[in-house]
Amino acid sequence: MSPWSWFLLQTLCLLPTGAASRRGAPGAANCELKPQQSELNSFLWTIKRDPPSYFFGTIHVPYTRVWDFIPDNSKEAFLQSNTVYFELDLTDPYTISALTSCQMLPQGENLQDVLPRDIYCRLKRHLEYVKLMMPLWMTPDQRGKGLYADYLFNAIAGNWERKRPVWVMLMVNSLTEVDVKSRGVPVLDLFLAQEAERLRKQTGAVEKVEEQCHPLNGLNFSQVIFALNQTLLQQESLRAGSLKIPYTTEDLIKHYNCGDLSSVILSHDSSQVPNFINATLLPQERITAQEIDSYLRRELIYKRNERIGKRVKALLEEFPDKGFFFAFGAASQ
Ligand SMILES: *[C@@H]1O[C@H](CO)[C@@H](O)[C@H](O)[C@H]1NC(C)=O
Ligand SMILES: *[C@@H]1O[C@H](CO)[C@@H](O)[C@H](O)[C@H]1NC(C)=O
Ligand SMILES: *[C@@H]1O[C@H](CO)[C@@H](O)[C@H](O)[C@H]1NC(C)=O
Repeated sequence: MSPWSWFLLQTLCLLPTGAASRRGAPGAANCELKPQQSELNSFLWTIKRDPPSYFFGTIHVPYTRVWDFIPDNSKEAFLQSNTVYFELDLTDPYTISALTSCQMLPQGENLQDVLPRDIYCRLKRHLEYVKLMMPLWMTPDQRGKGLYADYLFNAIAGNWERKRPVWVMLMVNSLTEVDVKSRGVPVLDLFLAQEAERLRKQTGAVEKVEEQCHPLNGLNFSQVIFALNQTLLQQESLRAGSLKIPYTTEDLIKHYNCGDLSSVILSHDSSQVPNFINATLLPQERITAQEIDSYLRRELIYKRNERIGKRVKALLEEFPDKGFFFAFGAASQ
């Protein structure tokens, strides 16, 4: 899964190749990992008070890929805390429907009317290719769980003609073979939310859907067309076999499992957008790529951190007797 597909809520159904295989799985941590619990690094910070509160850095990948590498102290902190806060409340149906509608074009508009003809045709062709490949990309495990290619394609790409171009761009980025193979198991954030619900903890969210969604809708038309064009060019090269995309999701998992905070945070994926900057671009294109990148960093990282920070502080002050567990994306904070 692409780190930025968080916005697509594809976070809801992910499945690693072989959910049962853990440490030995391809792409599992291959840093000098010490298997002893006490030596695992953690993404846990304690706020000293009574009872203590915690910050925990999560990641938007299938939880089965990282669960065994999360130290016991973090799991214990989660269990001990009565109140768990997430970025968004992913178990609330309203969140899902608000995210869906935020991604839609205004009533009556269609992508065909909005996109330049060349882009629209390439997009359509690419999605036809993906639909064709989907059954071949899926794993026996996924089929065993009753996931069907048509169902999966529709779950991800159904209604694509009604989506805003920026969301279609993110969708195309998450429709690769490796990402498709990882569908069916909840991502860590969602898994924790489900666990919190199951354990009847009090839950809450520090952000509104609109706060996550609107910054992306705020890119202007030429920026979005540029990004969509680059995304399609990338996928077309991939299809033609002339490009091998560095598998950034695997890198992210590896760094997370190694407790390598600076790599997780500094990874380019932290701005949750595709990395065009290093592609071979003309000088003007490079400027556009940089403008998009700095806009999104400002909106999705810096401003967001400040907003979230204020809300956390207010919660801690308002409820001095509560033990909070704040679970926020480590790669996006
Ligand atoms: C889009 O935004 C960029 C950067 O702010 C600006 O240079 C460009 O003129 C804008 N394009 C349109 C069509 O508004
Ligand atoms: C897409 O990008 C290519 C390569 O940079 C460029 O030649 C082409 O004009 C772009 N197409 C559109 C519709 O922007
Ligand atoms: C950019 O591309 C060059 C050449 O392919 C590579 O050596 C470099 O590591 C890349 N930089 C980043 C930030 O990805």
